[in-house]
Amino acid sequence: MAETLAEFYEELKDCQRCSLGKTRTNIVFGAGSENADLVFVGEAPGRNEDMQGKPFVGAAGQLLDKLLNSIGLERSQVYIANVLKCRPPQNRDPLPDEIEICKPFLLKQIKIIGPKVVCTLGRFATQVILDKNASISKVRGKRFDGNGYYIFPIYHPAAALYQRTNIVNLKADFLKLKEILSEKTIEEPSHQEEEPEQLMLF
Ligand code: URA
Repeated sequence: MAETLAEFYEELKDCQRCSLGKTRTNIVFGAGSENADLVFVGEAPGRNEDMQGKPFVGAAGQLLDKLLNSIGLERSQVYIANVLKCRPPQNRDPLPDEIEICKPFLLKQIKIIGPKVVCTLGRFATQVILDKNASISKVRGKRFDGNGYYIFPIYHPAAALYQRTNIVNLKADFLKLKEILSEKTIEEPSHQEEEPEQLMLF
């Protein structure tokens, strides 16, 4: 069983568990820091990502980089992945069986990284990670409790390329993200606290 992202990549790099294995050029496993506090989850690789084997290398990725820079972060400090690791032909929507097969791999990556926040990009990733009925316009910019991390849905950067008004919301949501990341985490006590002595008298 893989315990690091590098080991896990070795397990998945030749994946043929669904039919996308036949049409993809490269698996897009994910990229960034294994110790990241922040993980972004997109939908699926597009043409550029499929060719390069890296997530968010096209126009949406450039916007994501700018948004990251606006809150003082570089791509190398976060981790970026997708719901699907292989490009659906003609960028069609991921199919339910593809999601069912690929989702556990994403969850395992998140578990290895142990981030503070998982930021879902757009409706698709939000419905897979937060709630299958979530409406992105209702949940964006709000934080939800995940399994040991916060889930913070925002619009997909590609949506802002088509609809420029979304950029205003994205910028505002990145500022919220910065605030959440800067909050101090309250550490759980590592051992049961000893009872105060006076209580032990009775
Ligand atoms: N859009 C996505 O959802 N993921 C990518 O990797 C690129 C574009």
